[in-house]
Amino acid sequence: MLSKNMEKALNDQIRIEAESSQIYLSMASWAEVKGLEGISLFMYKQSEEERMHMLKLVKYVNERGGQAAISALTEPKAVYDSFQKMFEDLYDHEIFVSKSINELVHVALQEKDYATHNFLQWYVAEQMEEEALARTILDKINLIGNDKSGLYLFDRDVQQITVESAAADTQP
Ligand code: FEO
Repeated sequence: MLSKNMEKALNDQIRIEAESSQIYLSMASWAEVKGLEGISLFMYKQSEEERMHMLKLVKYVNERGGQAAISALTEPKAVYDSFQKMFEDLYDHEIFVSKSINELVHVALQEKDYATHNFLQWYVAEQMEEEALARTILDKINLIGNDKSGLYLFDRDVQQITVESAAADTQP
């Protein structure tokens, strides 16, 4: 059974994951309208992943005798100054999510809730991967700067990364 404190902390994380999904969906839509298919596909996939992160938490809270809170979400930005800025936002957001997961782990330890602590290890590992991926992409786009043909090649690169990571996800 989850303590009230643990339940609240997990429910806050449900909202953060749902908001992450909305933020990346907004980025996907913006990139699609701008004609960059690879970046758009990447962001649609990130958005789906965040929804999966949220659902996993919803199921967990309900299974442990709590009730998952499905709350109102903050509307994400609809327009970005540049692709570079958009990827900076993505990276900063992942850092924010990692901090929030760390805080959750801290609460689990305080509450002596070792089942939740164990459950959260998946998120700890996932955040390390997401941060590394965001950093790799950000490094690439920083190399390009405002070069238009560079952006075209970058878009194809990101599409390749998306296809490869989708293939990795389906491996047993
Ligand atoms: Fe679910 Fe990208 O954090």
